Amino acid sequence: MLVSPSLLAANFGNLEQDIHMINDSEADMLHLDVMDGVFVPNISFGFPVLKAVNRLCTKPLDVHLMIVEPQKFVTRVRDIGASIMNVHQEACLHLDRTIHEIKQAGMKAAVTLNPATPVSTLVDIIAELDMVLLMSVNPGFGGQKFIENTITKVQRLKALIAETGSQALIEIDGGVNLETGTRLALAGADILVAGSYVFNANDPLATIHQLKNLTINGPI
Ligand code: DX5
Ligand code: ZN
Repeated sequence: MLVSPSLLAANFGNLEQDIHMINDSEADMLHLDVMDGVFVPNISFGFPVLKAVNRLCTKPLDVHLMIVEPQKFVTRVRDIGASIMNVHQEACLHLDRTIHEIKQAGMKAAVTLNPATPVSTLVDIIAELDMVLLMSVNPGFGGQKFIENTITKVQRLKALIAETGSQALIEIDGGVNLETGTRLALAGADILVAGSYVFNANDPLATIHQLKNLTINGPI
């Protein structure tokens, strides 16, 4: 399992310490949640913070844009050192164009779906995608309860990927812990985002290790 801890749940009074923890951990990447107060009812952080994070972080940056008109920021997201740029399907009028611009800029292209947006909406773009990010909570806040329907959605997305020969990885965001993570792994998830479960843990390094080594063989 690939693990992408979400910095949203870190200690904003001492981000450097938490980023060093991520550097020392088995995390595969670092998930960065950008919110604009329009697409979602919350504001998080923007480019100055992303830039500072990039200077400190040795892991690839997985940038999740919860903003309107994300296509305006492709170059700037590339310039802060992002490896993956996630745009919401619901925020993109010309998704095909935006995906190509992200790839042309040298980043991996990912499309994010809100809980109520069906997987079928990706049928004509899935072949172009490096990753699909399924929201398992309504975006905007950390620490929310996992929406159960996500498990079925992962299975549906897995089937669509197999059907179309797409190489897209499946990433899940919201309410991930060892229990939901294990069921997501069984359903076919490739990457787990975890915010509060990692940063509020007594031992974040051990928690990341556990998520990386989820056992999917036993009955859950
Ligand atoms: C929510 C963000 C998530 C958030 C997840 O809108 O996209 O990445 O940090 O937080 P947890 O893991 O606490 O649900
Ligand atoms: Zn996120």
